[in-house]
Amino acid sequence: VDLHISLVGRRDLAGEIYRQIRGALLEGRLRSGDPLPPSRELARRLSVSRTTVMVAYDRLIGEGFVATRVGAGTFVAHDVPTAAGRPSPAPPTLAAQPVWAGIPLLNVYADEADYDFRTGMPDVSLFPFQTWRRLIAHELRPEGAGAQPYGDPAGHLGLRHAIARHLATSRDLVTTAEDVTVTNGTQQAMDLIARVLLAPGDEVAVEDPGYGPVMRLFESLGMRVRGVPVDGEGLVVDALPDRARLVYVTPSHQFPLGVALSLPRRIALLDWARRHDAAVVEDDYDSEFRHGGRPIEPLQTLDGEGRVVYVGTFSKSMLPSLRVGFVVAPAPLRHALSAARYVTDWHTALPTQAALARFLDEGWFVRHIRRVRAVYEERHRRIVDLLARDFAGLLDAVPSVTGLHLTALAPGASPKEIAAVADRAAGDGVAVQRLAWFGVERPGPAGLVLGYGAIATGDIDEGLLRLRAAFDG
Ligand SMILES: Cc1ncc(COP(=O)(O)O)c(C=O)c1O
Repeated sequence: VDLHISLVGRRDLAGEIYRQIRGALLEGRLRSGDPLPPSRELARRLSVSRTTVMVAYDRLIGEGFVATRVGAGTFVAHDVPTAAGRPSPAPPTLAAQPVWAGIPLLNVYADEADYDFRTGMPDVSLFPFQTWRRLIAHELRPEGAGAQPYGDPAGHLGLRHAIARHLATSRDLVTTAEDVTVTNGTQQAMDLIARVLLAPGDEVAVEDPGYGPVMRLFESLGMRVRGVPVDGEGLVVDALPDRARLVYVTPSHQFPLGVALSLPRRIALLDWARRHDAAVVEDDYDSEFRHGGRPIEPLQTLDGEGRVVYVGTFSKSMLPSLRVGFVVAPAPLRHALSAARYVTDWHTALPTQAALARFLDEGWFVRHIRRVRAVYEERHRRIVDLLARDFAGLLDAVPSVTGLHLTALAPGASPKEIAAVADRAAGDGVAVQRLAWFGVERPGPAGLVLGYGAIATGDIDEGLLRLRAAFDG
């Protein structure tokens, strides 16, 4: 296979090799079973070190795009996990921008699982559907929000007030309704923020390992994404690239490792942003579920300069299908955020916004959170206990006190071995995500991410028993 790769004018060489091979694969230029060039040969052809090529290949292996066969080389995998995202061959007259071919339409929830430890889903069986239905139905009367004309791009005023009040009590955030823009989830919040703060070619720093959907959004907008390592205290601020215009962080509960950004690191990050005239985006996606430890102040509260944009979502605290989140932005960004929202899709559905305002104002939200927090805490504790009891030497839980998932490192194993464990577990009805999938510039470490939103408390023991058996082959 004559694989064309061009590194002219590129900086992140390993990342570029990775992206171009992934693009070739998704466009169908490379097919299942095709060999990749030997790393030594490709390195010579591109005038880069062999390590650079190996880093790109390792990442493709970690994500399941390619596989190695001992003595034979590296090949495109037979079950490339992106078939759904592959564009069908089209006449060349209307070609999409190449960037889109590199973005797979992954659906980690595509398959059913008996024991579901996948991340990202809350327990929908605990959601008060009846109340929500009543509130939505109320807005779908001729006098309700559903009958109103187009609304304010910044969002329904009642909901913005309710969110500001909720943040003041739950997160000690000093904010008003004017600071709040309602969005269709975190993903749209990040799109609006990137549009108003960045230009194509700008560098953006993200946590590595980190949250893929936001990283791919930045890539699609033409930004250069740089992965910054994470240790036991969160983002390694000293490793931030000098040219980054924006730093995207998950300080309450780093995704996926689960550590909290320590107070000294928070202060160092804000200091770094001040010195480099950069923006910080704080993604506080699951802090409602804190069940231990003392909460650390949000970056937004520590920030005296208006450099932090705070992003929240109702995807975990309510339902991901609602697609509601919000941005709390410093005053100088307000007009631009509304204008960006206006030109993209105007606003979030008004019946949903109005119903959510009442859900918050009438106390349903606080009651719901109190209830699910206790359930999630019990699941978290059970998983930690079983990991300590049955997985000694195999998996070490990363300490965390919030959220809907915990991560366990596998100090004695390689990412490849863990991938085999996850595959064997899947064969036995257990869905669990490998940490290696979340690598940005470097392959993620060996380990597993264990979500407990989707699994019933009573199923955890059997699920982990099966996972433990998968370690034995
Ligand atoms: C780090 C992170 N941010 C945000 C979200 C939620 O995104 P959205 O609000 O677009 O549903 C998730 C969901 O898994 C997440 O892991």
